[in-house]
Amino acid sequence: MYIDYHSHILPRMDDGAEDTAQSLEMIKSLKAQGVDRIISTSHFYAHRESVDSFLSRRGRRLEELLGANPAITDIIPGAEVAIERDLSEKKGLEKLTVGDSGFILLELPYRPYSGWMTEEILEIQFGLGLKPIIAHLNRYVSTYSSSQINDILSLSGVLFQFNNEVFHSRRDTAFLLKLIKNDYPVVFGSDTHNMDKRAPNFDIFEKVMKKKLRGDKFDALIKDYCKYMR
Ligand SMILES: [Fe+2]
Repeated sequence: MYIDYHSHILPRMDDGAEDTAQSLEMIKSLKAQGVDRIISTSHFYAHRESVDSFLSRRGRRLEELLGANPAITDIIPGAEVAIERDLSEKKGLEKLTVGDSGFILLELPYRPYSGWMTEEILEIQFGLGLKPIIAHLNRYVSTYSSSQINDILSLSGVLFQFNNEVFHSRRDTAFLLKLIKNDYPVVFGSDTHNMDKRAPNFDIFEKVMKKKLRGDKFDALIKDYCKYMR
């Protein structure tokens, strides 16, 4: 069974699921693809909202979802926290971890990588004592320079999350496989937003990875990347 480390399944929380019916469909689809634990990572933007306001919205949406189907017990609430200047000083940031795991999913900005981003990540890691997960690293491979990617990869004690969309690109898949071979801590997510263009996609994860890593190696990868949330 797989864990989805990145999803927008809560209804009317962000640009993800539009309503409860869509959330339930997405959850059903993920389950059919072998996902037994879903980390919900709705967008959080520090310049727009306080942590407490986000948490109270998230709590209400989660309740709505559980009210519609009380059998859902395998959602771990988290957030996809956009890295912006002074993010580490945001009041209550530590409450945005994935459940009580201490991990926090951080989204790099879509602009050239810069030193202040590293400083924010390090401050969150060592100042606040949280464990960063860098969201969808695959998205930056073609926009950041290789030395910028190496800077990110040199951060120790952080996890590198890949969206399953990586498997649509041979080049990006090769990059991922190189990281796995070199024992970088990678984790996987659907980053699903809906049932259309950004639908659950652990089917392609399974199809490609079973082909690329044979037998025991595939099982070992699953065990390894899921261990942080089991
Ligand atoms: Fe996302």
